[in-house]
Amino acid sequence: MKYDWKDAGEEWSAPWGTSAAQWEHAILPRIRSHLPTETILEIAPGFGRWTHYLKDNCRELWIVDRIGECIEACRQRFASDSHVHCYLNDGRSLPMIPDASVDFVFSFDSLVHTKQDVVEAYLGELGTKLKIGGKGFIHHSNFGEYANSFRERIPQALAKPLIKAKIFDWAHHRSPDMTAELFRALCAKHSLHCLSQELVNWRGRRLIDCFSVIIRSDTSGQTPTRIVRNRNFMREAAEIRAKS
Ligand SMILES: C[S@@+](CC[C@H](N)C(=O)[O-])C[C@H]1O[C@@H](n2cnc3c(N)ncnc32)[C@H](O)[C@@H]1O
Repeated sequence: MKYDWKDAGEEWSAPWGTSAAQWEHAILPRIRSHLPTETILEIAPGFGRWTHYLKDNCRELWIVDRIGECIEACRQRFASDSHVHCYLNDGRSLPMIPDASVDFVFSFDSLVHTKQDVVEAYLGELGTKLKIGGKGFIHHSNFGEYANSFRERIPQALAKPLIKAKIFDWAHHRSPDMTAELFRALCAKHSLHCLSQELVNWRGRRLIDCFSVIIRSDTSGQTPTRIVRNRNFMREAAEIRAKS
C-alpha cells in the first residue's frame, strides 16, 4: 500500500511532541560529537524529516532513498540548498557516492524494517564509501532477539486482545532477522567496527531497536563495543513531549 506522506513523516514524531523536539533532545545528543563535519550521507531520508537538520551540519549532504516520490519531495524541499544532493537508488547500493568520501553516515527510523541482506549490502558499501576514520549512526532492528520468544509464537488471534489490553506490545514491523549482535558481526565482515550500541524500547517495552555507532577503521586491534540497554527511551520521549 502506498504511504500517504501528507504530513511528511512529522506524525512519527508524535511521542516526542514534534520532530524539532525529537531532533533537539533525542537525536542530536546522540550524534553531537560527530557534527559538524565535511560530508554526510543520509540513507532513506523519506520526505527529509532529519535532512532538514543534517544540512546545517555539513558542507555536502548526500541523501539516498529507494522511493522516487521521496527523492522528488526532497529535491523540492531542499531546492535552495545547493549542497544537498538527492539520489534514487535500488534500495541496497550506493554507486553515486565516491569511494572514501563520507565523514558521517546517518539513518534513522528507516532501516529498522529492512532485512539482514539489505543491512549487510549497505554495510558492505559503507566499508568503501566512508573515509578511513569516518563514522556513522545507524538505527536498525534488534527484533531478532525476540523473534522466537513465546510472545511471538502465539497465534495473532490470541495476541491481539493481549496487545489491546497493553499486556503485550507490538513489533512495529521491525525486521525479525536483525539483532544488535548480528549487526556487529556484519560490521566486522565489512571493514567496519561498531564503537557503541544503544538498545532501546520503541513505543513498547521490549528493546526491539538499536542505535549503532560505527567507524571505518584500518586497524585490527579494536576496542570492545560499548553496549547500553536503555529501557527508558519512550519515557524520555514522554518527558521531551511534556516540555515541548
Ligand atoms: C518510515 S520512512 C522514514 C523516513 C525518514 N528516515 C524519517 O525518519 O522521516 C522510511 C523510509 O525509508 C526508505 N527506505 C526503506 N528501505 C530502504 C532501502 N532499502 N534503501 C533506501 N531507502 C529505503 C523508504 O523509501 C522511506 O522513505
